[in-house]
Amino acid sequence: MNPRKPPTAPPCTLFLFGASGDLVKRLLMPALYNLSRDGLLDRNLRIVGVDHNASDREGFVEHLYGFMRERDQAGDCAGKCLDEKRWARLAKCLDYQTGDFLDPETYAALAKRIDATRHGNAIFYLATAPRFFPEVAQRLGQAGLLDESAGGFRRVVVEKPFGTDLASAEALNACLLKVMGERQIYRIDHYLGKETVQNILVSRFSNGLFESFWNNHYIDHVQITAAETVGVETRGAFYDSTGALRDMVPNHLFQLLAMVAMEPPAAFAADAVRSEKAKVIGAVRPWSPTMALKNSVRGQYSAGKQGRKRLPGYRQEPNVAADSQTETYVALKVMIDNWRWAGVPFYLRTGKRMSVRDTEIVICFKPAPYAQFRQSALERPKPNFLRIQIQPDEGMAFAIQAKRPGPEVVVENVELGFAYKDYFNMTPATGYETLIYDCLTGDQTLFQRADNIENGWRAVQPFLQAWAKGGEVHEYPAGQDGPKAADDLLAKDKREWQPLGRNRS
Ligand code: BG6
Repeated sequence: MNPRKPPTAPPCTLFLFGASGDLVKRLLMPALYNLSRDGLLDRNLRIVGVDHNASDREGFVEHLYGFMRERDQAGDCAGKCLDEKRWARLAKCLDYQTGDFLDPETYAALAKRIDATRHGNAIFYLATAPRFFPEVAQRLGQAGLLDESAGGFRRVVVEKPFGTDLASAEALNACLLKVMGERQIYRIDHYLGKETVQNILVSRFSNGLFESFWNNHYIDHVQITAAETVGVETRGAFYDSTGALRDMVPNHLFQLLAMVAMEPPAAFAADAVRSEKAKVIGAVRPWSPTMALKNSVRGQYSAGKQGRKRLPGYRQEPNVAADSQTETYVALKVMIDNWRWAGVPFYLRTGKRMSVRDTEIVICFKPAPYAQFRQSALERPKPNFLRIQIQPDEGMAFAIQAKRPGPEVVVENVELGFAYKDYFNMTPATGYETLIYDCLTGDQTLFQRADNIENGWRAVQPFLQAWAKGGEVHEYPAGQDGPKAADDLLAKDKREWQPLGRNRS
């Protein structure tokens, strides 16, 4: 049976601030192309690039088309393939407005581009450098562009990074909320656009099975990993003042943690889901400075190899300080102080230039209480675990014990697995399709509310503060799995990390 096609999104004028930047061409435009290909965009949608570069509609279309073709020829298109007719249909919706983000004239020009006679709807997508977020929001407010009293919706999408610590995130929220309501703000975390991340909630809450053992009676600990093979690439200047913790933990890794650990929401509605997420992140124990140091490991990659390819160390990357102490790897132990998770550590790790790309969550269960098969080689029962594979392979696997066929009782590990690709026709997507569609249709479930963001920063604040005062940054060779100190972090608790890349196809 064919699944029901979602309804076409309402018409709107979508302004892309930072239109000449990477995000627009690499992710937003391919995502819009995919939505258009799937018939989910209204014929009256207008997409207006806004940036200070002098250009026009033709220049903008050409710039985007060039990139889409390049991607297509490299076999890397985010959709099936670039179809000229479909591209032409989308290109008709495109337009461009040259303008300085700080100049009120720019906003007067944008006001004229909103189709007030047909609908009056507008979305302002801030794909700019973060320093412009408050500036643009303020000017949108001053120009009356966020006023919904005439009936059309006015929404603002705010990209990552949302602040650099708790104080700056609070200040940015306060600034946004001065000129618009929370229901108009769409704070993006692209991890929530990933099918496998959304599936965590579906698996947990639409299968009766999981809830019965999803608690501290049965779960020993949880591991959350986001390992990347890429280095900092062209983003040295940004990354060197950011580091792995700020770049990945309060946002992406905490999203994964929230999906695993939140309570069932009373309804599958934006505020009910976001309230449960805020509660669980709010329950992360704030470590004292001593405990924050004890429960964290920082690493930085040195020169190494990926196969035969030589890789530079982090300090040799462009725009990185030669004596940089910025971490490119972090491993943390956090505890959630609530009834369900009391006593269950969550171990988080993320790093650049690791041996494999692997984003996964592993739920490690307590072992069977009694070694029934003592005569077998396996003296101690091995624990079961559930691996939720986010990327690059997508699926889930349950590791259980089974008897190897033969006259003797030999117990072995086997896996019950589900791979997305075996069941579903997975059209390649950027992850932004769902997020853009949801913003057009006014569904905030997959976007961060102010308290979600602030609770994330509040939970990492003890690590930031402790590191500002001391602690070591451990070296690890590029192309390997992080520093040994990260293994010691778990060894202290008599546990070990699951090997990376186990599910690679
Ligand atoms: C971004 C970070 O938010 O997420 C990058 O700034 C990181 O440093 C990226 O590489 C990871 O996203 P994904 O989807 O490749 O796991």
